[in-house]
Amino acid sequence: MEKFQRKEIEFYKLYKPMFCIFVPCFIYAFARYTINHQEPVYDLPFYLTNKVLGVTAVIMMGLAYVIAPLAKTWKRFRIYLGHRKYLGVGGFLLGSAHGVMSLLLMTPYNYKVFYNLETNRLNWQGSLSMFFGTVALMHFGFLLFISIPAVIKDMNPKQWKILQRGGIFALMITFLHIAVFGYKSWFNFEKWYGGMPPFSLVGASSIVFLLTLRVVISRYGKKKKIQKKLYRDKVLQVSVSRIGGISL
Ligand code: HEM
Repeated sequence: MEKFQRKEIEFYKLYKPMFCIFVPCFIYAFARYTINHQEPVYDLPFYLTNKVLGVTAVIMMGLAYVIAPLAKTWKRFRIYLGHRKYLGVGGFLLGSAHGVMSLLLMTPYNYKVFYNLETNRLNWQGSLSMFFGTVALMHFGFLLFISIPAVIKDMNPKQWKILQRGGIFALMITFLHIAVFGYKSWFNFEKWYGGMPPFSLVGASSIVFLLTLRVVISRYGKKKKIQKKLYRDKVLQVSVSRIGGISL
């Protein structure tokens, strides 16, 4: 009987970036909240880890969208194209874990900023932030679904590509999810314990930075391509004129 070569999951593409992003983020959160703000150490395994998971998720998703323009502009980055899927899947897993953990933590004692403390119900900030978080998670889930090989096979490749780019939209919604509850602390420098910006600002600015980087690299890549084409056309013109205008 003929044996088929099945693809293996390249776990290192999933765990390496996850580990490399999670560890520095965790150290940052530990330094800011546990050391400088003196929050209890028992917050580390769940409350604080939950924050770190959210930020690690957005950085992984954002990086997934920077790799394509990088690889288009500089050939040496092509080896990272295969990492995109793992960054997206990893980001979704961490984002989902963060969503579930946040719901378990959802009380006015943990998140004062989300609640009207007189009625103990969600206030505007809480309602909007939860809405944007849920919409972003659903959107990332949809992108994961259409990345299943059997679904990709049945889809129109052009539409698939357009829908995958919709992840950028989901990242923007995640920005809103963070900004609606975090923006006040971003500009309140008294809350920058030990001079360290709030973690919500780290998450939100990572999204802005990575999406801007994507646009800048794409534009540079296009400019480079046009210049290369112009140069090629010029060389061709010169060689044509040198051989007496014989058309090639
Ligand atoms: C049902 C979905 C979600 C819920 C209920 C939720 C809930 C929360 C809550 C309660 C916070 C505040 C945490 C804190 O201040 O300690 C938060 C922050 C945050 N969330 Fe979400 N979230 C959801 C989805 C997502 C998704 C999908 C992402 C990313 C892909 C994300 C990324 C972040 C980030 C980066 C922060 C800021 C970090 C911080 O300061 O804690 N969230 N989220």
